[in-house]
Amino acid sequence: MGASVQERGSRPTPEVSRTMSTSSREMSARAGQEPATTVGDITARDPVMTVRNANVHYGETHAIKDVSLDVGRNEVIALIGPSGCGKSTFLRCLNRMNDTIESARVTGDFRLDGQDIYDRSNDVVMLRARIGMVFQKPNPFPKSIYENVAYGPRIHGLASNRAELDDIVYGSLERAGLLDEVKSRIDEPGTGLSGGQQQRLCIARAIAVNPEVILMDEPCSALDPIATARIEDLIDELTQNYAIAIVTHSMQQAARVSQRTAYFHLGRLVEVGPTEKIFTNPSHKLTEDYVTGRFG
Ligand SMILES: Nc1ncnc2c1ncn2[C@@H]1O[C@H](COP(=O)(O)OP(=O)(O)OP(=O)(O)O)[C@@H](O)[C@H]1O
Ligand SMILES: [Mg+2]
Repeated sequence: MGASVQERGSRPTPEVSRTMSTSSREMSARAGQEPATTVGDITARDPVMTVRNANVHYGETHAIKDVSLDVGRNEVIALIGPSGCGKSTFLRCLNRMNDTIESARVTGDFRLDGQDIYDRSNDVVMLRARIGMVFQKPNPFPKSIYENVAYGPRIHGLASNRAELDDIVYGSLERAGLLDEVKSRIDEPGTGLSGGQQQRLCIARAIAVNPEVILMDEPCSALDPIATARIEDLIDELTQNYAIAIVTHSMQQAARVSQRTAYFHLGRLVEVGPTEKIFTNPSHKLTEDYVTGRFG
């Protein structure tokens, strides 16, 4: 498909799109309009990814409208908002997963460590190793537990012999908090694990190739509270090494795991800020309505 990049070199400075004055905010809230500008600081102190002026269309549907946002190194950023507001679409832009959707047209400036990820010279398989993804429904390959984790390191040539590959596989399972539960059946199918174990296997698979960013789209929505708690603990540990952008419908989960929260509404990024502020003292009326349960 034709993901193209517009306005390269003319992206606004963070200051331009950073905040919206109280008066214009109140005016747009009073008029019930979508905000033209995001409220709050879209920048991160130490960004690993920067997105400027992202727009996504699926045919006639304008799913993401001029969204600019940084993802900081070692931070967990939660993406929240009502169903259909564009959270998954935005997340998929970050590792070019929308390339696989025929009708999707993506424009804007997307950078990983300052490099344009939509540059045509970019190897998408390599990009998706650097920016891993974990989906709502655990999706292990129909292979053994070992092979699920070994697959990525093997195709990227990260191990020169079996002992090195073993180290990566066992180390990744350990970091995903799964090794103790699976080491006695490492050659059994990954699909034979419980849902929560499968999700940790998918996380082990993502971290086996040394990503910089992990994207998670409602990773706990198919899990029970105990499996959910384990994944949340794991997210806390992973943030020492990775940046994580997580879509969640659970505001409690966003509050527990993230340092920053971004609130989306009808394809726009309405407000972004420190998670505590978004949940206790949001600036925009739309955010307040959502987090207080009046909407969504
Ligand atoms: N593959 C697709 N083809 C066409 N339209 C799509 C596609 N995926 C999403 N859309 C549309 O884009 C908009 C945003 O959808 P998206 O899935 O990103 O929302 P979401 O915030 O993740 O919702 P949910 O919370 O239900 O997962 C919606 O109007 C949706 O119908
Ligand atoms: Mg979604």
